[in-house]
Amino acid sequence: MGDSVFVITGASRGIGAATAELAAAAGYRLVLASRRAEDLVNAGMRLGGPDRVWAASCDVTSWHDLAFLMGRVEEEWGSIDVVFANAGASVVTSFTSDEGAPPAEWADMVLTNVCGPAYTAKAAMPALVRSRGHLVLTGSAAGRGVRPGNLYSATKWAVTGLAQNIRAECADTGVRVTVVQPGLTDTGAIPASRATEPKLDPADVGRAVLYAVSQPPSVDVNEVVVRPTGQGPYR
Ligand SMILES: NC(=O)c1ccc[n+]([C@@H]2O[C@H](COP(=O)([O-])OP(=O)(O)OC[C@H]3O[C@@H](n4cnc5c(N)ncnc54)[C@H](OP(=O)(O)O)[C@@H]3O)[C@@H](O)[C@H]2O)c1
Repeated sequence: MGDSVFVITGASRGIGAATAELAAAAGYRLVLASRRAEDLVNAGMRLGGPDRVWAASCDVTSWHDLAFLMGRVEEEWGSIDVVFANAGASVVTSFTSDEGAPPAEWADMVLTNVCGPAYTAKAAMPALVRSRGHLVLTGSAAGRGVRPGNLYSATKWAVTGLAQNIRAECADTGVRVTVVQPGLTDTGAIPASRATEPKLDPADVGRAVLYAVSQPPSVDVNEVVVRPTGQGPYR
């Protein structure tokens, strides 16, 4: 795997940043993407500098950004071997009360969480087919259960379906597809109302990603659900 190239969206914080550390330690060259590339500079220097880490500004709600990035990476670094479609956003919603974000603010979350991984997969797939590579998506335990009034959960149900549909289409290409479904994880993205609940460390999720991508090419780990011990029964 020596110089294999591992692309991570949402790499500047939380789960993406923790996965970047583990992937660098495993010997991958990294492409770290988020909207604000300046937030990636320190990680880039720490994880190997410009020969090993490419810090890219990329908004996953923009097809143009993703197509441009994947094209340049394959052209300049020769291949794309793993793509981790991880960038996501969440806002609190309610259908019966005025709590949470007003509907005018819902679209950005849906674009980021649904179009984001879909565009990422579409942009990366030609290169992944050529490398017989691996697509990993970040879903959520919220994409595996009912959360009253929660549109975020519905976007993550969409990611569960997206992963299955992409795998079905590329079954004869050699490309592997994994959806990692984390429970509550200790990042800046969790709502204050859940601050006292048991939480995963972001590296716990990163290890699930590295587990999936380090299997032999004949093994396609399609779904990994990882919850913190003690997470509530309907969570
Ligand atoms: N934390 C949890 O409890 C939890 C549980 C289950 C699943 N997840 C999922 O795990 C993933 C990562 O979450 P996290 O908790 O690590 O979040 P986080 O700490 O808030 O980090 C989010 C990352 O995504 C990037 N990002 C956000 N919108 C983007 C966009 N439009 N284009 C490109 N990058 C964008 C952010 O960078 P910029 O702002 O610079 O773009 C940042 O790097 C998400 O898909 C989330 O839904 C989280």
